[in-house]
Amino acid sequence: MGKFATGITVITTRDAEGKPQGMTVNAFTSLSLDPPMLLVCLDNKSATLKHILESKSFCVNILSADQENVSRSFARRGDVDKFEGIPYLEGVAGVPVLDACLAYVVCGLHKAVEGGDHQILLGDALHLNVQQADATPLVFYGGKYGYLTDNLPQGASA
Ligand SMILES: Cc1cc2nc3c(=O)[nH]c(=O)nc-3n(C[C@H](O)[C@H](O)[C@H](O)COP(=O)(O)O)c2cc1C
Repeated sequence: MGKFATGITVITTRDAEGKPQGMTVNAFTSLSLDPPMLLVCLDNKSATLKHILESKSFCVNILSADQENVSRSFARRGDVDKFEGIPYLEGVAGVPVLDACLAYVVCGLHKAVEGGDHQILLGDALHLNVQQADATPLVFYGGKYGYLTDNLPQGASA
């Protein structure tokens, strides 16, 4: 899977006490256009998964190239404040939305489907916004963070 280049997202939600929670995820894809739906795959061991199954809503925050620190923060496990120093807004249905992300989609949980040691969460897109139209995305490939460049391969045309 390391040979498949992806973007990086942070999936955010609220826990039963209303505290913002979240985790870094690259297993994200679009699913349906009409109705608009997407999916993310979360480890059964993830704390964020439990919160989403309770709150029934989540936000997919698509990170920009200058948010590697955000990706690293939200990939931490355990009792840490992942939101420390990372500003967020209250989105539709009270779901936390990361302030400076490239774009986001707030979803209602449509269904959770078992997939081995992960759950496939199908989301109904409720609200979306492109916050940084000119920003370039954060990329993950071969276990490393990377960036898109304008350099085209030899022989390719724009
Ligand atoms: C680049 C990157 C991509 C990741 N993608 C996923 C993913 O798609 N699904 C998943 O369950 N965990 C993924 N993780 C791991 C989680 O972010 C990590 O286990 C996190 O600590 C879970 O937090 P939680 O237990 O507080 O929910 C990824 C981590 C990194 C660094």
